[in-house]
Amino acid sequence: MREIIIDQNRCNKDGVCAATCPLHIIKIDPESKLPLLNEQQKERCINCGHCLSVCSKDALTLNGVAPEDCLKITTDNSPTKGMVKQLLQSRRSIRAYKGKQVEQSKLSELMDVVNYAPTGRNEQELSWRIVNDKEKMRVLAGYVVDWMKKVIQINQDYAGYYQGLINSWEKGHDNVLRGAPALVVTVAPNDAQIGVEDGSTAISYLELAAPSFDLGTCWAGYFYFASNASQDIKKYLNISKEDKCVGAAMIGYPKYKYYRIPKRKPVEIEWI
Ligand SMILES: Cc1cc2nc3c(=O)[nH]c(=O)nc-3n(C[C@H](O)[C@H](O)[C@H](O)COP(=O)(O)O)c2cc1C
Ligand code: SF4
Repeated sequence: MREIIIDQNRCNKDGVCAATCPLHIIKIDPESKLPLLNEQQKERCINCGHCLSVCSKDALTLNGVAPEDCLKITTDNSPTKGMVKQLLQSRRSIRAYKGKQVEQSKLSELMDVVNYAPTGRNEQELSWRIVNDKEKMRVLAGYVVDWMKKVIQINQDYAGYYQGLINSWEKGHDNVLRGAPALVVTVAPNDAQIGVEDGSTAISYLELAAPSFDLGTCWAGYFYFASNASQDIKKYLNISKEDKCVGAAMIGYPKYKYYRIPKRKPVEIEWI
């Protein structure tokens, strides 16, 4: 049941809630000038919260959630352009970690932030598996290596990609999960229309938020390729037949500090 409740004593009738609704389902009553949900359309509401969030008068309660239930956006906490540029440009894929275990409370706090990553149609269908145990990380890396061996057996063309990783694993080096202390895996229903994009977006949020928690991350590409093909991995991570992995990253305390931002190719834009 979708509903908006307007506090008439607070509403200044500026119509901004209606103007920002992505589905255009908020109408302005011609007589009272107060906003109201279009009765025929209201079940289309995706609960994105824009109407509540954009109201400067805290006048709109959305689907039972009052403005006072939502954190206030304060300009004091807004990072400057310089800070944001440094954050985004200085993020590096971390492939060497300190032996230190990541505190579960820290990971929980980080995931509360990552949970704000946008999702297509605001579906919010992602769930998470977090492996935070070195022994379990080795088991998982071993499953990835087992999968690589099977892939090569079926198609020798993949030997170029995977044989070196298998050889180094057998010599005791983990170039699959890089000896990271933890792995964050995101999961979506197989039939989610925008699951893979949502997963990638959420992992990007994770990668960008992690340094503020003194943590580093790296996309777990080999694990990701193996995850949906290996029944061992799906079983180990309790991913049902109805669900699939849509993103994964290693995470831990970085062993090394970085001092310079490496160059990238110049941005290529075709202005139309
Ligand atoms: C992969 C992806 C695809 C999206 N596609 C559209 C789109 O085609 N049109 C649109 O208006 N919003 C689109 N969105 C925005 C979502 O609807 C929006 O993120 C969600 O409603 C939550 O709102 P917020 O981003 O303001 O928090 C998309 C978001 C994602 C992550
Ligand atoms: S929550 Fe989003 S879709 Fe629903 S009425 Fe408000 S602005 Fe529109």
